[in-house]
Amino acid sequence: MALYAAIVGWGMSVPTRVVTNAELSTLVDTSDEWIQSRTGIRERHIISNGESTSTLAVAASRDAMAMAGVTAADIDMVIVATFTPDRPLPATACRVQAALGITNAAAFDIAAACSGFVYGLTVATSLIQTGAAKRILFCATDVVSHFVNWTDRNTCVLFGDGAGAVILEATDQPYGLLSSDLGAAGDREELLMVEAGGTCLPLTPDVLATDKRFLTMNGREIFKLAVRAMEVSSLAALQKANLSLADIAVVVPHQANRRIIEAIAERMAVPIQQFYINVERYGNTSAATIPMALTEAAAEGVIQHDTNILLTAFGGGLTWASAVVRWGVPVQRLPVHGQAKTERSAE
Ligand code: ACO
Repeated sequence: MALYAAIVGWGMSVPTRVVTNAELSTLVDTSDEWIQSRTGIRERHIISNGESTSTLAVAASRDAMAMAGVTAADIDMVIVATFTPDRPLPATACRVQAALGITNAAAFDIAAACSGFVYGLTVATSLIQTGAAKRILFCATDVVSHFVNWTDRNTCVLFGDGAGAVILEATDQPYGLLSSDLGAAGDREELLMVEAGGTCLPLTPDVLATDKRFLTMNGREIFKLAVRAMEVSSLAALQKANLSLADIAVVVPHQANRRIIEAIAERMAVPIQQFYINVERYGNTSAATIPMALTEAAAEGVIQHDTNILLTAFGGGLTWASAVVRWGVPVQRLPVHGQAKTERSAE
């Protein structure tokens, strides 16, 4: 039985259209100064013609597969974390699977909002550890703009669209997820939700005339709960890995808001320079923020082979999740499309 699931490839994708704070200030009563000082966000990417949750996922996945040196035939499971699926049926993972020509694989979605990447990484790693899968394409992708009320300045400035993907591969070497801590508080759903559009409150003409099809949020309460939950959960994940903060080189937090990240850094007494932050260019892309940040951090050399990383996230549900990950591609890899994979250099 494989003990670990190494991350052997990664990639990200965002829509081509960039929406700046200046453009938003033509839609609602806001300003670049207000948005940057309260959130750190300068711009975000928003889908346009032909783009959707799955098209972003497919683009990110292609990059991840190329980096891992695997083809469609090498993948035996496709998992997508999203709360903004292409359609209610089928799962977006099935559409990603079809678009990539991955014919011999299981496919399903996970919905844990902004915590979706860490939840999904935990599920995918467990499936590899039980032997249910050997090589998983896991993509976290959200088109939050679909649920944004572009007349509500309290929320529309915060979010963006994007996708990040990883290839997870069975290995007996200690790479990938070392521990995770997951939590939820379903009794606080009203703090962050899209009330209508499901079976509980279908989109009738009366409902469509209200704001209930949009994402609503109690920003101040979410801010407080997010900071506290991510701190507590981070420490729990570290404890489960038998590590301490001193063992962590880089923290890659959910990118909701620079001030939330700064507050977590202060509470945990970790220098802010140890946190990887790219929220200024993408806004909050929900489940996609962490794999997008991992992809950019790896490209910049901020995370390297053998780097211990702490991931932490908080979002709708309410949900929260933290994980300790050891970055690195094992020297000995599983065979790909029937051939023994030769040794590859560390990434
Ligand atoms: N432009 C200008 N003014 C604004 C804007 C805007 N875009 N949005 C709100 N305001 C106004 C409010 O209306 C309010 O005006 P009022 O005093 O006249 O009523 C004023 O600014 C101050 O509002 P506050 O709520 O005090 O502003 P705060 O400093 O708390 O910042 C913010 C608001 C940025 C939403 C903050 O609470 C926050 O970051 N919360 C976390 C929310 C979040 O990140 N959610 C994402 C999903 S959950 C997750 O991913 C972790």
